[in-house]
Amino acid sequence: MKPSILVARAIFPEVLKKLEQVFDVDHNQADEVLSAAELQSRMRGKLGALTTGSERIDAEVLAACPQLKIVANMAVGYNNFDIGAMTAAGVLATNTPDVLTETTADFGFTLLMATARRVTESEHFLRAGQWTKWSYDMFAGAEVHGSTLGILGMGRIGQGVAKRGAHGFGMNVIYHNRSRLTPELEAECKARYVSKDELLKTADHLVLVLPYSAASHHAIGAAELALMKPTACLVNIARGGIVDDAALAVALREKRIAAAGLDVFEGEPRVHPDLLTVPNVVLTPHIASATITTRMAMATLAADNLIRFLTEGKALTPLNPQVLER
Ligand code: DGY
Repeated sequence: MKPSILVARAIFPEVLKKLEQVFDVDHNQADEVLSAAELQSRMRGKLGALTTGSERIDAEVLAACPQLKIVANMAVGYNNFDIGAMTAAGVLATNTPDVLTETTADFGFTLLMATARRVTESEHFLRAGQWTKWSYDMFAGAEVHGSTLGILGMGRIGQGVAKRGAHGFGMNVIYHNRSRLTPELEAECKARYVSKDELLKTADHLVLVLPYSAASHHAIGAAELALMKPTACLVNIARGGIVDDAALAVALREKRIAAAGLDVFEGEPRVHPDLLTVPNVVLTPHIASATITTRMAMATLAADNLIRFLTEGKALTPLNPQVLER
């Protein structure tokens, strides 16, 4: 008998087929969003699960699913996992690092440019039939090349954004991170380490690429927004909850900062209603890693983690490798 697993959300049929060669798969190709209770009941009795960032795996779920051995997240972020509880329960957690780095950094830059150059706002104006004449300051935005790019969170994706800014657009790159990069990496990214306050006060474009945790909750709130330049643009490709969305909507409406580009939201897919009514914000539905090639690589890596672990006791990208040693 094949081991049984749950694939919690729809995935590429090719990847599902690959899993079905090894496992008895309970899939969700209808892509229903499972409630916590549904997730528990579908996962009960399964040895493994493939999740996305939307499914919460915590002590309660783990207690209800004692057979569970591995949960493979199809995401690099894993704030939906209680890693401590998973480790205590002997459940391996895996994520999908590296395969999405460059694509996500591309999108960070896409959002930065769309925000700085007011792409969405001007398109809405055009579509609404309001474009009747050229004028010298129509949708004049912020300069990108040669400006100061600030990056909060300098992991692999942050470094990708830095390189694009420094090498492609001649930007002056500054960053703040829990730990400083090595001198070699700083040179590669042409990035200078600064305090968080200096970052906020100096950046013309501030890109958030830090992981979400209790410590980074509302890392950008009213006080931080108040430190930013009134001409600055803020871009969030990290996680909802890092920015206080209500405070951001106020700052945008009152033009305390110039504009924002947001791919992630507190409590998504719900979006703070005030963000939907301010014009100086570009909003996208959590698509920073969304190219077919990258999403396929993410799904394949998550599937390979399940296969390797449940057939050989090994994993490609474990988050709590101590479980493997037991
Ligand atoms: C990630 O990988 O963490 C992304 O946010 C999910 O698309």
